[in-house]
Amino acid sequence: MLRLISRFLKKEKREKAKPRPASRAAQLIEILQRKHVTEAEKEKKGKRKKVSLIFPRFRVYATHRFIALPSEVKTQVRYPLIEPYAYALIRYDAREHMLTYNVIEPVLSSEEKRMLEKIKLGLISLINVPLTAIKNREELTRFLEENVQLLLDQYGFELSADQYLRIMYYIYRDFVGLNEIEPLMQDPYIEDISVDGVGLPVYVLHQKYGSLRTNIVWNDVEKLREFVVKLAERCDRYISYAEPLLDGTLPDGSRVQATLASDVTTRGPTFTIRKFRHEPFSPVDMILLKTASAHLLAYLWYCIEHRKNILICGGTGTGKTSFLNAISLFIPREAKIVSIEDTRELMLPHEHWIPSVTRASFTGTKVGEVTMFDLLRESFRQNPDYLIVGEVRGREAYVMFQGMASGHPSFSTMHAASLEDVIKRLESPPIELSPALLETLDIVIVMVHARQYGKSARRVKEVMEIQNIDKETGKANAVKAFYWVPVSDRIEYRGYSWVLNRISIERGIPMEEINKEIERRKLLLEWLAFRKIRSIRDVARYLALYQRKKEELLERAKKELGRVNES
Ligand SMILES: Nc1ncnc2c1ncn2[C@@H]1O[C@H](COP(=O)(O)OP(=O)(O)OP(=O)(O)O)[C@@H](O)[C@H]1O
Ligand SMILES: [Mg+2]
Repeated sequence: MLRLISRFLKKEKREKAKPRPASRAAQLIEILQRKHVTEAEKEKKGKRKKVSLIFPRFRVYATHRFIALPSEVKTQVRYPLIEPYAYALIRYDAREHMLTYNVIEPVLSSEEKRMLEKIKLGLISLINVPLTAIKNREELTRFLEENVQLLLDQYGFELSADQYLRIMYYIYRDFVGLNEIEPLMQDPYIEDISVDGVGLPVYVLHQKYGSLRTNIVWNDVEKLREFVVKLAERCDRYISYAEPLLDGTLPDGSRVQATLASDVTTRGPTFTIRKFRHEPFSPVDMILLKTASAHLLAYLWYCIEHRKNILICGGTGTGKTSFLNAISLFIPREAKIVSIEDTRELMLPHEHWIPSVTRASFTGTKVGEVTMFDLLRESFRQNPDYLIVGEVRGREAYVMFQGMASGHPSFSTMHAASLEDVIKRLESPPIELSPALLETLDIVIVMVHARQYGKSARRVKEVMEIQNIDKETGKANAVKAFYWVPVSDRIEYRGYSWVLNRISIERGIPMEEINKEIERRKLLLEWLAFRKIRSIRDVARYLALYQRKKEELLERAKKELGRVNES
């Protein structure tokens, strides 16, 4: 009996789990149905695959190389920025009598715009990882593309291949790139991008055509504010109403300055991006750009080798940091260098280089902050042969000068228009250096814009050598060793150098020998310029080679340059 009951229960269980049709025919129908369902499922899956296969891969070709541009815009100039989607069109605006820079992008219909917005919102809710975690742009694009296709499927949007690519461009531009200004970021000719507030056009500084107004405008304060917050996030910095000023570096090395609150900048949020040059200027570039002469650079090379202290001064954007970077190549290859900056700008080919950057506090308090002063004090523990400080502004200058006085040659830049300004700033609060400490500074290089020689022309205006500081008046007794003559656009040597004479006395090297050595180095630099050997790595290699194979290298230089001079 028990066996009977258990058999009955088992049977019932089986039937409950899988109700079986009673007749053979019904069973057959069920089998066919099941097959049909799986086939339909398969087909559905296949269809989904097909949906994504309909679309061509979204690819962009960023133009990092320079395209030869005419020196003057006759009617208009057009070149690619993000191929094949975004282009630059520079043309003369007859009404405003000025050149304008227009970003040409794919046009979307209002229906496509609506779809784009929906996909954007969808992406934001779908993707729960911070996109900044994916560093590789291509990987990030692939990731977005997969998710966009998923969303298209979910929303049931039917797009042609062309529509899909145009929409993907905007997804790429806004999620991978920096929204409206992404095409500008990709233009190698653009040096600066700036916005002075809401309703005002974005201005760019173009290497060939100078300052240009673009067709990009933020008309909505909220949107501009959002964008500035995005910039801060990309810089790994923090910006808010309480702390409305931002000074940071984008992952590609570009520098960003921005303000958020409208009480700080009355026309609403603002920002300026100084784009990172992928290859910094070398000393040879400085010769080719006519910023400095081969003679002047040979002199600096000699002084740097003999551990002299240098400060580069000038107005905003006069090329101080670029010049500092260029002449730092003269630091002997094997020397240990420590550099300290607020934002990372320097790029050196040296192996023993320890770059450090200050860190702002993230929370608005002082917690976690690492200032230039802290880094500088720390740097002396690393006992560098050379110290480079990006820019001196405050009390860190005091530590730097102490370092100089204790035999650590240092180079830096300062925002000041002349030697007198430099001395004044160093002697007054908050720096307040004593004349004795100030005297350790050997050379002050003054940089200027030279707009008469081109939109982005910069020149070394003068090289001043400090003899001593008058204890009574606090004024510097200085000698002008080199100076720029604007009419001829040449940099002349005065024929006498206090610093070189000091080296002669300190090291016991006859002046004649020093002058000869500088002549030799000048020849080498002229030859490198003639051969257009300009990348920092190549130049550094030749400078190192010069130490080992001086005679052979000079022989070659003389021959090749001589041949040119004869013909
Ligand atoms: N010798 C030069 N010739 C042409 N362009 C230059 C030269 N030096 C620098 N530039 C360009 O000028 C811009 C400013 O350069 P840099 O940052 O070196 O100036 P700066 O004086 O240090 O600026 P800041 O005052 O912000 O510190 C950069 O875009 C750079 O590419
Ligand atoms: Mg600078």
